[in-house]
Amino acid sequence: MKKWQTLLPLLLLLVLALSATASAAGCHPDDEAGLLALKSAVTADPTGLLSSWKPGTDCCTWNGVSCREASRVTELSIYGKPGDPTSYLSGTIPPSFSRLRKLVGLYLQDLKNLTGPFPAALLRLPDIKYVYIRNASLSGTIPDLSPLAAKLGALGLAGNRFSGPIPESVGKLTQLSQLELARNRLSGGIPPSVGRLSNLTTLALDHNELSGVVPNLSGLTGLYTLQLSHNQLVGEIPRSLAPLAPQLRFLELGHNRLTGRIPDFLGNFSALDTLDLSGNLLTGTVPATFRYLTKIFNLDLSGNALVDPFPEMAVKGIESLDLSHNRFHLGKIPRWVSTSPIIYSLKLAGCGIKMRMEDFKPAETYFYDYIDLSDNEITGSPAALLNRTQFLVSFRAAGNKLRFDMAGLPLPETLQDLDLSRNMVYGKVPAAVAGLKTLDVSYNRLCGQLPKTQFSASAFAGNACLCGTPLAPCQRRS
Ligand SMILES: *[C@@H]1O[C@H](CO)[C@@H](O)[C@H](O)[C@H]1NC(C)=O
Ligand SMILES: *[C@@H]1O[C@H](CO)[C@@H](O)[C@H](O)[C@H]1NC(C)=O
Ligand SMILES: *[C@@H]1O[C@H](CO)[C@@H](O)[C@H](O)[C@H]1NC(C)=O
Ligand SMILES: *[C@@H]1O[C@H](CO)[C@@H](O)[C@H](O)[C@H]1NC(C)=O
Ligand SMILES: *[C@@H]1O[C@H](CO)[C@@H](O)[C@H](O)[C@H]1NC(C)=O
Ligand SMILES: *[C@@H]1O[C@H](CO)[C@@H](O)[C@H](O)[C@H]1NC(C)=O
Repeated sequence: MKKWQTLLPLLLLLVLALSATASAAGCHPDDEAGLLALKSAVTADPTGLLSSWKPGTDCCTWNGVSCREASRVTELSIYGKPGDPTSYLSGTIPPSFSRLRKLVGLYLQDLKNLTGPFPAALLRLPDIKYVYIRNASLSGTIPDLSPLAAKLGALGLAGNRFSGPIPESVGKLTQLSQLELARNRLSGGIPPSVGRLSNLTTLALDHNELSGVVPNLSGLTGLYTLQLSHNQLVGEIPRSLAPLAPQLRFLELGHNRLTGRIPDFLGNFSALDTLDLSGNLLTGTVPATFRYLTKIFNLDLSGNALVDPFPEMAVKGIESLDLSHNRFHLGKIPRWVSTSPIIYSLKLAGCGIKMRMEDFKPAETYFYDYIDLSDNEITGSPAALLNRTQFLVSFRAAGNKLRFDMAGLPLPETLQDLDLSRNMVYGKVPAAVAGLKTLDVSYNRLCGQLPKTQFSASAFAGNACLCGTPLAPCQRRS
């Protein structure tokens, strides 16, 4: 306490002196030059992201720029507006960007018209630790990353147009906790050296053109997120993933060419929140150990060749479930599904369900956005179910044995997508369907004059006696 009391005025003086020199001198001339070089390499800046970047003013005050000691720029963060193409900043990152000698973090996001190669200037920055250039349009190959070895803590290049292989040198980035290269055009194998990045918590390589097998990642025991979906990976789900069980929350291996059975050890992933194995070539049964996945919220096993019996799960609340298009004969909608208090998406198309729609009485319908029960043997009417949903966006039950009067079907106001094709639905098409974005009621037993809608004839084809635009005009009664 005593010490502080004497030190405090001194410290205060020091701080004042420092800030005085900073505001007088402005930021370091090299930093100013580096930033202005970037600005002059920007050919369009429709929303004025860089309009505060003016020569002769303190660059530490410029939009997106942060400084620390001695007015050196340590962080640069420029965020565009996602989904607004007219706002995109255009340009490239020039070589003289390397004058930002003290840069630690670079965060460029949603700058869709930022082009050019991986900025080689970054490889020359001695203190660089965090590099995120996400949702831009950088292209070419990812260079040898050796100069950043044992230094880089995060590399996020998701959502660009990088092509070619992931460099083997990525394995030298031993301090890396996040590696996000998703949504590029990367090809070749996943370098086995990735397995040496023992500090990784996130590995996201999804939506590329990666081939080969899932390498041995058994040493990545801190991994929280593993996203390898939408590639061309082959082989089985490797046993070497088993040690990741206590930590892993997100395991996404969907839309690859994985073969073999779903391994029993996945039931040990007690922390798992999301498991996506959809769109692979997996065979055999779903392991009975899945009943230990009590924290799973999102489970997608659709589009494989999995067979019965499906295990009774002990999850308290599933949020989204997709088991569509396997070789299941579930018979009924499982109890652990209909009792979920938080479910918003249920997709059980082609799951061998034989029941009356009226017997599907979910405990809670409030959160439902998507229901797809197509290609089962469901009878009766969905009227009571739809009447209980308030925010449903999509209801699909094509290819069943539904038999009800469509005129009395309550359509939730939020509904955009309705597919009741290939059933035995009768009566008139209600005028309320005009508010939908997509509709298919073809191949039913509907009759009468169609309401005015924007849908084409194929939406109404194959019915008993529908008439009026876009079908043939109704016969005038004589
Ligand atoms: C971004 O690039 C696209 C394609 O090159 C171009 O059509 C668009 O006008 C550009 N947007 C801006 C804001 O410059
Ligand atoms: C990038 O764009 C994707 C959609 O294309 C979006 O889901 C994601 O949130 C964006 N990521 C960032 C970091 O802006
Ligand atoms: C990497 O892990 C080591 C050992 O667990 C730790 O000391 C170090 O701080 C971590 N590095 C980063 C960047 O998280
Ligand atoms: C995976 O690597 C670890 C060492 O990191 C090794 O002990 C284990 O045998 C390897 N597993 C396979 C299947 O190669
Ligand atoms: C699950 O974990 C336990 C304890 O960690 C282990 O004994 C068991 O072999 C594991 N099960 C599978 C199928 O790997
Ligand atoms: C929908 O619910 C309301 C009130 O809950 C009820 O009066 C009405 O009959 C129901 N309609 C259908 C078609 O089930």
